[in-house]
Amino acid sequence: MQKEQNEFEMKVNIRVTPPGPKAKEIVSSDEKYLATSTKSIPMVGKRAKGVYVEDVDDNVFIDFAAGIGVLNMGHVHPYITEKVKEQLDRMWHFAGTDFYYKEQVDAARAIEDMMPGAFSKKIFFTNSGTESNEAALKFAKVSTRKQQFISFIGGFHGRTQGSLSFTASKGIQKKYLFPTMPGVEHVPFPNPYRNPFGIDGYEHPEELSNAAIEFIEKYTLNMYMPPENVAAFVVEPIQGEGGYIVPPMDFHKKLRKLADDNNILIIMDEVQAGFGRTGKFLASEHFGVAPQITSLAKAIANGIPMGAVVIDSKLDFPEPGLHSNTYGGNLIASVSCKATIEAMKKEGVIENAAKRGKHLRKRLEELQEKFDFIGDVRGIGLMQAVDFVKDRKTKEPAVKLRNEIEMNAFKSGIILLGTGESGIRLIPPLIITDAQIDEGMEVFEKGIKKSL
Ligand SMILES: Cc1ncc(COP(=O)(O)O)c(C=O)c1O
Repeated sequence: MQKEQNEFEMKVNIRVTPPGPKAKEIVSSDEKYLATSTKSIPMVGKRAKGVYVEDVDDNVFIDFAAGIGVLNMGHVHPYITEKVKEQLDRMWHFAGTDFYYKEQVDAARAIEDMMPGAFSKKIFFTNSGTESNEAALKFAKVSTRKQQFISFIGGFHGRTQGSLSFTASKGIQKKYLFPTMPGVEHVPFPNPYRNPFGIDGYEHPEELSNAAIEFIEKYTLNMYMPPENVAAFVVEPIQGEGGYIVPPMDFHKKLRKLADDNNILIIMDEVQAGFGRTGKFLASEHFGVAPQITSLAKAIANGIPMGAVVIDSKLDFPEPGLHSNTYGGNLIASVSCKATIEAMKKEGVIENAAKRGKHLRKRLEELQEKFDFIGDVRGIGLMQAVDFVKDRKTKEPAVKLRNEIEMNAFKSGIILLGTGESGIRLIPPLIITDAQIDEGMEVFEKGIKKSL
């Protein structure tokens, strides 16, 4: 029988210290031909399966980055691959915003079936997270006929000029880029670990969410942004790029009440936290809220580019032409999206994310006990992060140490990504087992020890 193209031993195996010679060559051509983006680790993938990736020098890594939270069903999932291959032989693209085909409707129905909230919903398909947010803004503007928005410090919503005006997790994201979309104000997110209110949000969660809500009410809405002008709040259920910040559990309900009282919509950006990552389909379900508008992308089609915005049907555009695109709901993406949801249900990966997330959390807390410079461990399900500090009391971010650990962990065989100023996120595919988490954590610890 012919060997599968992605057949290799599924176990961490570092044969040559990465980046090896072939990887170095590709990194240097990449620097020559590709524009500068956000690359931080010289990991050069060749093939992958499940939770493992082999690089061009035949090193095998365990993947705790999952293509930035995209590969929730793991690399080259057999069922999704089969469905995509079948579709490739049938039809690729037909412009799903201008013509019709069943695959797009099937994908929309599959998503709607997973969505919380007892109200009817409609979907607009996009190609990325930022584009989902752009569409979400238009639904909010057109349906409310209001123009301004409130968003949160530490949030990340994408990098196109509309979404970028909401993004506020690192200065570099906006450097030299003003002006972006006008009419967007930022308010403090109730970050339990570090917040401008000086409240320990782990000890006093309600006090923290009350302070955040009061700030919006007393200052933003009361003094300079009257609710009559505000179309929506744009908020992540759990901040992703901002450092995996889980707000107090009562925060989103309180925000929703404030929004409802003032006739303001909520746009919940579930691009990173949604699609099963936290042990529920949407992270907002942990907080008991179902917003009128939800942005999705990343894991929606397990690696085929796709995004979606899910709206309360009442907010649909009143006439054609207010919004559209070329590739949204593309046939390959639609088929992959439906197959991803089917595989998620069949394999119970959302439940797995909840269970394995507890195990991962326990392993991270054990590391925190061993190493003083791990100041915080936070997250829900398989959306976890550790935060490196110079001093546990001052919580001063240990940025250099974090960068060293990320690199040394990579050299030891685990793929990781930073988050926030001094965090590392741990977001393996949701199909991971406890034994694989243990394997990953042993390699992570090796990388930490090399950095001391
Ligand atoms: C919460 C959130 N929203 C939006 C985006 C933007 O998504 P994309 O990079 O697909 O445009 C991201 C990307 O990391 C994200 O985490």
